[in-house]
Amino acid sequence: MDKRIGFIGVGKMAQTIITGLVESFDGINELIFITNRTRSKGEIFSQEKRINLCDDNLALVNNSDVIFLSIKPDQYHGVLEEIKDFVRDDQIIVSMAAGIAIKDLENYFTSDKKILRIMPNVAVAVREGITVISQNKKVLDHELKLVVDLLNSIGKVDVIEEAMIDMVTTVSGCSPAFVAQFAEALADGAVLQGVPRDKAYQFAAQALLGTAKMLLELQLHPGELKDLVTSPGGVTVQGVATLEKLGFRGAVIEAMEACGRKIQELAE
Ligand SMILES: NC(=O)c1ccc[n+]([C@@H]2O[C@H](COP(=O)([O-])OP(=O)(O)OC[C@H]3O[C@@H](n4cnc5c(N)ncnc54)[C@H](OP(=O)(O)O)[C@@H]3O)[C@@H](O)[C@H]2O)c1
Repeated sequence: MDKRIGFIGVGKMAQTIITGLVESFDGINELIFITNRTRSKGEIFSQEKRINLCDDNLALVNNSDVIFLSIKPDQYHGVLEEIKDFVRDDQIIVSMAAGIAIKDLENYFTSDKKILRIMPNVAVAVREGITVISQNKKVLDHELKLVVDLLNSIGKVDVIEEAMIDMVTTVSGCSPAFVAQFAEALADGAVLQGVPRDKAYQFAAQALLGTAKMLLELQLHPGELKDLVTSPGGVTVQGVATLEKLGFRGAVIEAMEACGRKIQELAE
């Protein structure tokens, strides 16, 4: 790894990615450059991770081969206006903002730039995230591979068509909130029956983790796993039937559709 990697903005997502990089690649800290609007936050983080803090965004652009735009979507315009005349054609720009298309970014520049769009989910914080990635025509295969390799330090990475990113965001980006709601409901149900609260949260979370591992590692269809747990006339099928009666799956599907509609609305 010999590329210099810049992050404009070191909020939650940049800190997570940088932490994954520093833990995965020996010596990469010397190749990481950051800026942050509130400088004191950048100073604290740069000291903690032993990475480089630049004086401003232009110095960062000047010092980086790969530039992550790790700022909020409403901060993109200001930052792009500031850096657009200083980005070189050989540099790789990585955008992570929901609702901002590669085309929107290309429009800022007077020459063709190498632009990648990524969408990580919250589980990158425990290096079990899923990040989807798309690129424009200027990005070469080895450049895509470089960014994929970097992002593999925080979980799985999947290269997809850009048109799919918003749809995928509902199942990877939004779903941790629904799963957390489900975990809370499982725990409440256990507490109702007398299980101590802390144990209830712990068991619910472990059941979710184990279920996810079985789906992924044993490559089970979700229906197969459900069938494994539901014996004829048994206990679990009572709960399955109750959830069906109360519209559990329909509610989840409608929630996903609602997220999809909102993403479209924001993109427009
Ligand atoms: N968090 C997630 O789970 C998640 C998931 C998927 C995608 N994303 C995307 O990741 C991006 C970052 O999200 P986040 O959650 O990390 O946001 P965040 O915590 O608010 O971080 C944004 C950072 O950018 C800094 N900043 C703002 N304007 C700047 C400027 N002009 N120059 C330099 N730094 C500047 C802010 O500095 P201050 O310290 O002054 O506020 C802040 O530290 C967003 O586009 C978001 O859509 C996030």
